[in-house]
Amino acid sequence: MYVLGLESSCDETAAALYQPTNGMFIERVARQFATHAPYGGVVPELASRRHLETIDPLVAAVCGEAGIGAGGIDLVCATAGPGLAGALLVGLCYGKALASALEVPFIAVNHIEAHVYAACAERAVAFPFIALVVSGGHTLLLDVEDAVHYSLLGRTRDDAAGEAFDKGAKILGLGYPGGQALSALAETGNADAVAFPRAMMTGTNLDFSFSGLKTALLYYMRDNPGAEPADVAASYQEAIVDVLVGKAMLAVEQTGRKRLVVGGGVIANQRLRAELARAAAARGVEVYLPSMPLCTDNARMIAYRGWVVHEARGGDAPDTDVYTTFDPRNAAAA
Ligand code: KG4
Ligand code: ZN
Repeated sequence: MYVLGLESSCDETAAALYQPTNGMFIERVARQFATHAPYGGVVPELASRRHLETIDPLVAAVCGEAGIGAGGIDLVCATAGPGLAGALLVGLCYGKALASALEVPFIAVNHIEAHVYAACAERAVAFPFIALVVSGGHTLLLDVEDAVHYSLLGRTRDDAAGEAFDKGAKILGLGYPGGQALSALAETGNADAVAFPRAMMTGTNLDFSFSGLKTALLYYMRDNPGAEPADVAASYQEAIVDVLVGKAMLAVEQTGRKRLVVGGGVIANQRLRAELARAAAARGVEVYLPSMPLCTDNARMIAYRGWVVHEARGGDAPDTDVYTTFDPRNAAAA
């Protein structure tokens, strides 16, 4: 059996083939960094046009590598949201048309759920578990009961963690997207050099806020132009990591769950990986982190999540539409 996954929610076009019988994946990703870098951020119309150009060759390439024609695909899954509407439409329309032509089922995959299941695609995780999603567009905590039932425990009230990394990197002159560059700079810095704020860390609330941190960095650089960039980057990163680890541990303690699954581009951050592992081990909680290629946007997680949903409740109706924001009512159970 071959499951095709398609991802086009933002600035990566990706196609993957997943074989549930042996757990094998074949994937091709087309990144758009060069297209958007001159603008300092993703330009939605340019992203959609790039998806249009690359999606069909990527599908042909993964099928070619698997040694099958499109007719060998048994299930088609595409990201339906959240994301950029025009970008999502490319993958969703392509996927629905292909499924219809091949007369195979189609699954509209929720991108947040896919990030949660990225780690599960590599290593079996038993239910229930707490999920922390830390991407460029989202930061949230979920209590996951089973394959199709979960509830939202907390979410960011302003910037996402990845956005905090990217905006911080921009202030430090590290370019776009700067999360990776900021964390590389932080490696040689002193994380105790600057006392940046950790917002909403008292009480039982599981929401996040990162916009004050970004402003604190802006003012710090204005007032301390001679500051050592590596120290500032390390201190800034530490503030983000402290909040993410603190809230994840609070969620685990409040719910009594013994497993924590993390997904999204920011979990590529080595400091966050190490601190989460340390804090969870101290509480007897098992942590599941995706390997590097499964942290940032990819189609393997879309194929895997689509297959899990299909196993749980069958295919989607052909009139499934895109959505741009995360709403648990878009969840697989709905
Ligand atoms: O999950 P993702 O690929 O896209 C969304 O769904 O948003 O996440 C991208 C985010 C960006 O904000 C990027 O700066 C951040 O992940 N990121 C990192 C690192 N690598 C990627 N943030 C911190 N440290 C990293 N090493
Ligand atoms: Zn993502």
